[in-house]
Amino acid sequence: MPANEPRRVLIIGATSAIATETARAYAEGGARLFLTGRDAAKLDSVAADLRVRGAAEVHTGVLDVAQIPYQTTVINSAISTLAGLDVALIAHGTLPVQSACEKQVEETVEALHVNFTATITLLTILANYFEAQHRGCIAVITSVAGDRGRQSNYVYGAAKGGVERFLQGLRNRLHASRVTVLTIKPGFVDTPMTAAVKKNPLFASPRRVGRSIHRAIERRRDVVYIPWFWRPLMMVIRVLPEPLFKRLHL
Ligand SMILES: NC(=O)c1ccc[n+]([C@@H]2O[C@H](COP(=O)([O-])OP(=O)(O)OC[C@H]3O[C@@H](n4cnc5c(N)ncnc54)[C@H](OP(=O)(O)O)[C@@H]3O)[C@@H](O)[C@H]2O)c1
Repeated sequence: MPANEPRRVLIIGATSAIATETARAYAEGGARLFLTGRDAAKLDSVAADLRVRGAAEVHTGVLDVAQIPYQTTVINSAISTLAGLDVALIAHGTLPVQSACEKQVEETVEALHVNFTATITLLTILANYFEAQHRGCIAVITSVAGDRGRQSNYVYGAAKGGVERFLQGLRNRLHASRVTVLTIKPGFVDTPMTAAVKKNPLFASPRRVGRSIHRAIERRRDVVYIPWFWRPLMMVIRVLPEPLFKRLHL
């Protein structure tokens, strides 16, 4: 990415609390932004905030990512509106109720559709664009939940872990085209998604996480845990032997 030109940034799921903070960091640097989300009114309010904070341009496009046939149209609209893209951040996500997923197949299918399938299809479209351009960054918010399946959220964890595996392969493919593929793994973040979750000292603010994402993209990182301490923590969780791990109530 040329260092001194305003970034052209596409954010999918831009009404997310975390993504809004990343967008603010870009806006303060005078970026040109294209935001997508499923709620037009929320998008307009995020866009207005970013204009006040210094964004050179902010455009919006309504996209419910679950409606896969519309993904190409909205991405193409972002590319033509901004005359190209330097960064694409995929931020949408839902946190399904694990017990509901265990009882109803439809809940599981919906959670996998939004968190896994819709992300993979977006990545497939974006990868071909960035590969042809020979530069840029594709960044995706996954989760530490994808590092190891736990009884409390393994449907969500399976979706995020699946996306992570896909990103590994994509990073390997796009390296030759000088395209960065960034896997972002936040731990607990205090956002609307976790409104019903009891808070603990490991929770981070969306501002801290969003700003760290901005830094990671600009530094062309491959994989980041946010905050940093989740990396050693998850290393320990991953190496616990299965005969022990299956006895824990996690
Ligand atoms: N909060 C955490 O503890 C945490 C931890 C690790 C990873 N993450 C990940 O971080 C990302 C951002 O989440 P957040 O914490 O910022 O929560 P959030 O504020 O609730 O944001 C979730 C976003 O996903 C959007 N979304 C959901 N389904 C969608 C669909 N079908 N089409 C388009 N957009 C859709 C929501 O849109 P609406 O505004 O229209 O609802 C919202 O903008 C997610 O990928 C999440 O899995 C969060």
